[in-house]
Amino acid sequence: MDLITALNWRYAVKKYKDEKVTDQKIQKILEAIRLSASSIGLQPYRVFVIKNEEIRKNLGSDSFNSQIVDASHLIAFAAFDSITKERTSSLIALMAKERGVPVSDLADYQQAMEGYLLPRSDEENFVWASKQAYIALGTALIAAAELEVDSTPMEGFNTEKLDQLLNLKDKGLKSVFLLGLGYRDPGSDILAKQKKVRIPIHELVTEI
Ligand SMILES: Cc1cc2nc3c(=O)[nH]c(=O)nc-3n(C[C@H](O)[C@H](O)[C@H](O)COP(=O)(O)O)c2cc1C
Repeated sequence: MDLITALNWRYAVKKYKDEKVTDQKIQKILEAIRLSASSIGLQPYRVFVIKNEEIRKNLGSDSFNSQIVDASHLIAFAAFDSITKERTSSLIALMAKERGVPVSDLADYQQAMEGYLLPRSDEENFVWASKQAYIALGTALIAAAELEVDSTPMEGFNTEKLDQLLNLKDKGLKSVFLLGLGYRDPGSDILAKQKKVRIPIHELVTEI
């Protein structure tokens, strides 16, 4: 499938069939998430592949999203709950290592990054970090479609419950959204055959 065909093919699946996505495809989608763009390159989020069925059942019990339990795989995205000097320094150390330059060469970059992020409130930085996670979600949706794996982005769940279930506070994270992966059940998913609804291109795009 070419890219536009794949984007037309994908939709947010409501009903999954009982078929597992191969580990090879899951690893490709995770690698696409890893390669996603983020502001300053900080990647201020982490992803959790929730294999524990009990956690999935518990999380799904008070959500309208049956996909939390029924999808082949469930991935949770969590964003940094604050931006600390340790986190910015860790990125600088990684950049220096990967690019083979001394940390001191990156002093201006570090100063600019910290000048931008560290004076802001934890709440502002969590919102900023969440936005970066959403970009990774977009990357994951495209990667899944390219592999002909179905997906559902989901904000409809109890984030506080997931934070507790995954012990996210201790990791300096707060959950933001979920991504279900699997294969659509065309027989029981009413959306499977419905036309995609998007505003016309001339309404979306303005050439000035
Ligand atoms: C950030 C985000 C959160 C969403 N949350 C849910 C959700 O909780 N449950 C659900 O079934 N669909 C959810 N959706 C799917 C959207 O409703 C869907 O993408 C939208 O209606 C456009 O349709 P399509 O993606 O199927 O083409 C979410 C989508 C996004 C991008």
